[in-house]
Amino acid sequence: MHKITAASFGPDFYWGVAIAAAQNEGAYMTDGRGLSIWDVFARRQGKIKGGANAYEACDFYHRYKDDLLLVKALGFTVFRFSFSWSRLFPEGTGRVNKAAVAYYHKVIDECLLLGLVPFVTLYHWDLPQALQKEGGWAGLHLQKWFSRYVSFCAEEFGDKIKHWIILNEPMGFTSLGYMLGKHAPGKTGLDNFFAAVHNAALAQAEGGRIIRKLVPNAYIGTTFSCSEVQPFTDKKEDLLAAKRMDILLNRLFIEPALGRNYPHDDFPLMDKLHMHSKAWKYTDRMQFSFDFIGIQNYFSVTVKHNPLIPYVLAGEVKAQTRKVPHTALGWEINAHSFYHVLKRYWNYGSVKEIIVTENGACFKDYVQNGVVADDQRIAYFQEYIAALHKAKQEGVKIKGYFAWTLMDNFEWSEGYHARFGLIHVDFKTQLRTIKNSGYWWRDFLSK
Ligand code: FCB
Repeated sequence: MHKITAASFGPDFYWGVAIAAAQNEGAYMTDGRGLSIWDVFARRQGKIKGGANAYEACDFYHRYKDDLLLVKALGFTVFRFSFSWSRLFPEGTGRVNKAAVAYYHKVIDECLLLGLVPFVTLYHWDLPQALQKEGGWAGLHLQKWFSRYVSFCAEEFGDKIKHWIILNEPMGFTSLGYMLGKHAPGKTGLDNFFAAVHNAALAQAEGGRIIRKLVPNAYIGTTFSCSEVQPFTDKKEDLLAAKRMDILLNRLFIEPALGRNYPHDDFPLMDKLHMHSKAWKYTDRMQFSFDFIGIQNYFSVTVKHNPLIPYVLAGEVKAQTRKVPHTALGWEINAHSFYHVLKRYWNYGSVKEIIVTENGACFKDYVQNGVVADDQRIAYFQEYIAALHKAKQEGVKIKGYFAWTLMDNFEWSEGYHARFGLIHVDFKTQLRTIKNSGYWWRDFLSK
């Protein structure tokens, strides 16, 4: 087999690296920014490891010029970042914060100056706290607020930004934030969850329509978290458990976007969503013809029947228990499952193009004599890129791949101990040290 190089993916392939406002910017009260749900959630005891918060994070807000130089130095051509809604609209809606507008223009201009394609995510989990007070994603006014925010961004930045991502992993923020209470805003229960799901499914399509209307020549996508789900045994009850889990992890948001309404397949939990969409004929409104679908894959899961878990009746059998390779967060490393995910989404038939908008791994990195020898991360990227290449060779239209993430950052409820970066950050001094995986990318992208 000949060696896979960046050039094997063709000259027009997008090689990018991704970050998110809430995880990187810090400067949480600077220049008139309003609080986000993560700022407030971080104050709740025991919610974030080490009692951490993202008030300073990587201080990307002040250091963006240096950090963008690093993106360039590593050889990436795409920079994916997100707008902080509460920086632009401190109260979530209404008044615009001019300083924030000026700031994002500077970040975009810097990308363009360096020859980096700016890919912007409109919503990467940091809802303005002011809107959470009125229910947030589970509230009645979400559509109105979101449309206003998206329209503003399109009109303000549309001349410079042509690559748009509407939502980051709706399953992530609706389940962790509105059902399990593990992420901001820490809500629980099925009523919150279903209301948030339905709002997110509508908002992802409506956001697409707004950008289409207001930004000429826009390239529009939205992202989905996805994980191949395997049954632990081939007993019928495990097969059914895997099927239910698959509906939630892989199908819940893409199928309405493709115009298929919510998945059901005899999973009683889905009845409630079908009531929503049938009663109000929402199938059309949840559909949007995205130019690309963003696939975000970190792990595969293996499940078995578990009557103690409500509704899904499925529990995960962890990678550690099964003694298979995993990252420092216990996430199974399985490049083959990544290949399957790519094939499967392509097989829907109506997906136009795929971009892997996030993929990466967390390991216990440390700096020794100025070096971070993260060999496991290099091996991870090599395996996943080989799987990507295989899927592409077999006809899956894959337009790009973005590594998660540029530098170690605020990893949500894991705080700062979960390091995913290609660049190590010392959070006391903000010192950046390029890890060996960063140098590996530089070499990979130069060939
Ligand atoms: C994804 C998130 C991203 C990052 C990675 C590790 O689910 O989209 O912000 O935290 O996980």
